[in-house]
Amino acid sequence: MPFEAARFPDDVPVLTDGRVSLRPHRLDDVDDLVVQCRDIVTLRWTTIPLGYDIAMGTGFVTEMVPDGWRDGTEHAFAVQAQGPDGRPRYAGTVTLRDAGMSRAEVGFVAHPAFRGQGVMEAALRLLLDHGFDTLGLQTVIWWADQGNWASRKLAWRCGFTFGGTVRHWLVERGVYRDGWVGTLYRDSAREPQTLWWSLPNLRGERVSARPLDVTDDVRVVEGGNDGAVQRWMPSFPSPYALSDAETFRLSTLDAAADGTSFAWALVDSVTDVLLGAVGVPHRSDVGVEIGYWLHPDARGHGYARDALELMVEHAFTPRDLGGLGALRAYVRIDEGNQASLDVALACGFEVVGRERAGTVRRDGTFADMLQLDRVNPLVIF
Ligand SMILES: CC(C)(COP(=O)(O)OP(=O)(O)OC[C@H]1O[C@@H](n2cnc3c(N)ncnc32)[C@H](O)[C@@H]1OP(=O)(O)O)[C@@H](O)C(=O)NCCC(=O)NCCS
Repeated sequence: MPFEAARFPDDVPVLTDGRVSLRPHRLDDVDDLVVQCRDIVTLRWTTIPLGYDIAMGTGFVTEMVPDGWRDGTEHAFAVQAQGPDGRPRYAGTVTLRDAGMSRAEVGFVAHPAFRGQGVMEAALRLLLDHGFDTLGLQTVIWWADQGNWASRKLAWRCGFTFGGTVRHWLVERGVYRDGWVGTLYRDSAREPQTLWWSLPNLRGERVSARPLDVTDDVRVVEGGNDGAVQRWMPSFPSPYALSDAETFRLSTLDAAADGTSFAWALVDSVTDVLLGAVGVPHRSDVGVEIGYWLHPDARGHGYARDALELMVEHAFTPRDLGGLGALRAYVRIDEGNQASLDVALACGFEVVGRERAGTVRRDGTFADMLQLDRVNPLVIF
């Protein structure tokens, strides 16, 4: 059943927190609306039609929005905030679309002049109050194109829990895109439900770790196709294509945001050229697994040892100082991979176990995995 039918604008409530208000759209919003809907960021992340003009803006304000209120399918509000001249101005649109059974989908767009100021967070909070308190909603769902980090962060701030990536679900101008989805329940706290992890730059004397960049892709492909990497990392695609490097790069941001795993480009501290990759393929509240590989032309200089030390330092740094706050770091190494074992042993890791048949090699045979660990010196037994 849709929301209750309402007269527009008479039944549209004005909601305010004192700084930001939600109110009915008006004809004098149209100029700002057109600027918002021609903005490149808006166009990238929404289904707003291309070539937005005054006529379309007028149609939105005088027909689409009022119709949504009248037939109960959508409650769209204009966001109002103080402009640079001190006068209240249109700052964006937030909306709840009825999804039946006391559920609704949230949508929001900020005018470019009002992004990055917390205006949209305030607006979204007012909208959610309206949805849960006035409309009696049980669940609000958020969808965004994969990669829309500003939207994801805003949803996360307001308490939405991230539900994952749904392949080829969102349709934008005829193109099927992977969608991010999250939900907020009426009884949930409207505050972050998970820690928002990031990939900080880790500076070392000779090698540093930083987030992967598109310019690294070619060297990631070269490294990924190297014989030793292919041999000891059986999960790597074979052959390793440019699209694999892109998938890897994008997945690192996604995995870091909810703290499941982390991967960085390992680079020369002076030239910033990619030497390989380092990361934490698995993290728990207690321990982190560390992994590493080097581009063939970066081997034989002790870079892997430096990289492992850098990772251990980050792993053992307390969370309130920006680290992972792990008690224990461990590596899992194929028993035949002597070069990698030497690196771990040189970094003070000790063999603590053998996982029998812990890996399936590329040729289909099983091998044992040696587990080596190092314990955070802050841990007192
Ligand atoms: C989504 C939108 C409404 C957010 O508005 P906002 O909260 O004012 O936006 P901000 O620019 O402050 O971005 C929000 C956060 O995302 C972060 N962010 C933006 N791009 C990011 C990226 N590529 N990676 C990581 N974080 C990113 C910002 O740093 C900011 O975080 P901070 O406050 O901790 O610094 C606004 O960006 C917008 O109108 N986008 C176009 C329309 C749109 O995408 N709508 C949502 C469709 S689902």
